[in-house]
Amino acid sequence: MQETEAIDNYIRSHIDDEGDYLRALYRDTHVKLLYPRMASGHLQGRMLKMFVRMIRPKCILEIGTYSGYSAICMAEGLEEGGTLHTFEINDEQEDFTRPWLEGSPCADKIRFYIGDALELVPRLDLHFDMAFIDGNKRHYIDYYEMVLPRLTPGGYILADNTLWDGHVLQEAVPADQQTRGIQAFNDHVAADTRVEKVILPLRDGLTIIRKI
Ligand SMILES: C[S@@+](CC[C@H](N)C(=O)[O-])C[C@H]1O[C@@H](n2cnc3c(N)ncnc32)[C@H](O)[C@@H]1O
Repeated sequence: MQETEAIDNYIRSHIDDEGDYLRALYRDTHVKLLYPRMASGHLQGRMLKMFVRMIRPKCILEIGTYSGYSAICMAEGLEEGGTLHTFEINDEQEDFTRPWLEGSPCADKIRFYIGDALELVPRLDLHFDMAFIDGNKRHYIDYYEMVLPRLTPGGYILADNTLWDGHVLQEAVPADQQTRGIQAFNDHVAADTRVEKVILPLRDGLTIIRKI
């Protein structure tokens, strides 16, 4: 066993269990969906829930639902009366994801929308105190600029995959739009005086941004 795999196993055996429902969802994601690696999984899921516990948001936005794993984890952390709005652009995802969200113990806290978050969020006139950006890497700056004016001062944005498997260190070839998107986003946030920011080297990189 590689050392990183051994450390991952060690971490997973010393943090909260994900529970039977999420374990089953993660398994089903791997059996039935393409690109199951996109799902958050045990460690990131517990971490997202912990962030929700710390921030205590009333209203969370998620861009990129996929199988619903991260949505359920964040909803678990919400207090009574809190709501998570999660957006998924791929309508073929609905048949898989909706039953998992609606069958979860925190279904009453989750609103699931099919469509492009960049179009729907402004149209629905939603405002948030926490956002999880986990959609198309090419559009991270667009998501960020759409979310920031709709975020309460003192609110947080969490942006996933911001180290992009270390590719951010390489000079991206023009065709590699995802790496270029993440690099541009990281530069954009680093230069933005409207926010405080830190990058955690967890999994694929997670940027924590606080609106001043
Ligand atoms: C990495 S996956 C999300 C994983 C999920 N958040 C989790 O951690 O379990 C990214 C998802 O974002 C969706 N997506 C991409 N662009 C989007 C957009 N503009 N609006 C909503 N969803 C989008 C993709 O179809 C894909 O299912």
